[in-house]
Amino acid sequence: MAQERSQWTGRLGFILAASGSAIGLGNLWKFPYITYENNGGAFVLVYLAAIAVVGVPIMVAEVLLGRRSQKNPVGAFRVLAAGKPGGKWWQAVGFLGVLTGFVILSYYSVVAGWTIRYILLAVSGKLAGLAHHPAAMQSFFGEFLSNPWQQIFFHCLFMGATIGIVYFGVGRGIERAARFLMPVLLSILVMLVVYSFWTPGFGDAMRFLFRPNFSELTTGGVLEALGHSFFTLSLGMGAMLTYGSYMRKRDSIPRAALTICAMDTMIAIMACIVMFSIIFSFDFEVTKSSTILFTTLPVVFFQLPGGSAVSALFYVLVAFAALTSTISLLEVVSSYAIDELGWRRQRATLTMGAAILVFGILSAVSLGGNATLSDINFIGRSSTAGVFGTLDYLASNWFLPVGGLLIALFTGWFLGREASKEELEEGNGPLGWAFPLWRFLIRIAAPAAVGAIIVSVILGAEYQ
Ligand code: PFF
Repeated sequence: MAQERSQWTGRLGFILAASGSAIGLGNLWKFPYITYENNGGAFVLVYLAAIAVVGVPIMVAEVLLGRRSQKNPVGAFRVLAAGKPGGKWWQAVGFLGVLTGFVILSYYSVVAGWTIRYILLAVSGKLAGLAHHPAAMQSFFGEFLSNPWQQIFFHCLFMGATIGIVYFGVGRGIERAARFLMPVLLSILVMLVVYSFWTPGFGDAMRFLFRPNFSELTTGGVLEALGHSFFTLSLGMGAMLTYGSYMRKRDSIPRAALTICAMDTMIAIMACIVMFSIIFSFDFEVTKSSTILFTTLPVVFFQLPGGSAVSALFYVLVAFAALTSTISLLEVVSSYAIDELGWRRQRATLTMGAAILVFGILSAVSLGGNATLSDINFIGRSSTAGVFGTLDYLASNWFLPVGGLLIALFTGWFLGREASKEELEEGNGPLGWAFPLWRFLIRIAAPAAVGAIIVSVILGAEYQ
């Protein structure tokens, strides 16, 4: 290839961008509400185990495949599988990844757009009025969802911001955005955690999260925790592979992967502490846990001192987290067009971004007329909520786990022990016992766990 591949400017650049991809609506929205539905404690423990047994090894594998091949997901499998059993067919895994990126971004951006609406509401002072009446908040949200023009408008705005950043490339666009957005995001969250410490519900929240009661745990809950570990860590579709392809050889893959997984997990737990402390401070009935973020939280924010400021900060936090994730989704699709179709970056981002924006309109308007809200089950819960729910169901329950399984199998069984070892030790030094442990996890444990998710989806046993 004539052109030098872009690189992150430093170790921190990769870690911030990749953590930015991982930390998103999955952490701030989905994790708290599935934790709520699964009664906290034991579910949180299973989730931590899933991150350790499935998340970390696959994260290492994806980054390894990216840095070794210096390619987008399709190119990576083409190069690395050459001469191996299955040969060219492995490219299909890359294609599935690019397709998944396209699909997820199309509906993720719709939800991300809602955060802009809420920032505007908070800043203009309108949220204060609405949030004084839980019923008014509910009906506001319902009307907002069923207004196609508003849905399209905010979706376009969010896609515009995403395209605008990815357009400028790895260093000047993605890394620069992450270097600004991630510290702001972390500071806001730390401020909110400190704030929640003084709320009366803090103790209850900690007990709810950290006192496991295994009799409350269901098989569905275990599978849900496993499935969520893919979504939240951006695994199974080549996002980490793509970001890994821009990583410098002198940086350590295992250390970076561990840091990213730890950051993502920490943020998810912190988000739970903030939300549950606030919610448990009041005798509040959560009617629909999947809409906590947009209906219950605003109401509780305004029961507390500084409601306007806290809510504005909170929605800025969610918007920033979502933005660093949408950037990575678009980068997967763009890097494919750049490497494989030979397009220039500007053309790739604008064309692919526009295509995703237009496709996303289907999701944006599919929420219309959904007056009861009962079908809105973001991320992998239901296949009944129109285009939005169907795409999400397909991506979260099928594409990501299947992609993750194939990535684990390829790395564990086909890439070769020596190639993996060499790449993982490059920039890290000898791995000692950690290498055989990782090999075991990626060859046996992770595929077995992911296989269980897939079988359960096939049997329809996952979610009632
Ligand atoms: N990890 C993101 C979240 O938790 O919101 C979502 C995501 C981003 C999934 C990028 C996949 C991806 F490639």
